[in-house]
Amino acid sequence: MNESIESLLNDQIKYEAQASMQYLAMASWADTKGYSGVADFFYSQSEEERLHMTKLMKFVNERSGNVIVPALEQPKADFDSLLALFEKFLKSEIFVTEQINKVIYECLQQKDYNVHNFMQWYVTEQLEEEATARTLLDKLNILGEDRSGYYLFDKDIKDFIGSGTN
Ligand code: FEO
Repeated sequence: MNESIESLLNDQIKYEAQASMQYLAMASWADTKGYSGVADFFYSQSEEERLHMTKLMKFVNERSGNVIVPALEQPKADFDSLLALFEKFLKSEIFVTEQINKVIYECLQQKDYNVHNFMQWYVTEQLEEEATARTLLDKLNILGEDRSGYYLFDKDIKDFIGSGTN
């Protein structure tokens, strides 16, 4: 496996792992605040990100690459509001998309169409996850200071659980 691509895939393994732990911290925050629907959503998102990580690890191993199980930073655990929580979600997904684009760019530079093809699944996944994050953030922005709407938001978010491609 090309060294620069192997290195970028290992970076991506770390970003997916970091997202998984971040969403776990967000699920726990929501749980303690009484938003059980939001908690379930982020517990599920955390599982999805873990699958994204292991899918990459298995791919690198299949290609005789060297997987590095990463050390992770402490995820952010406290949020001022539901809005802040979902702003963090969107920011995290945009970051992951940017990193995937870097892998794709390097694949084209190195003419590694095998990895390029594999990464298309992640491109599709990111489109869906960013769309979900934007939709939920839009809903919260519409609610504004109307905290009574949070009850319905917490109830309705279950429709978004497991909406990824895996
Ligand atoms: Fe796998 Fe949403 O990053």
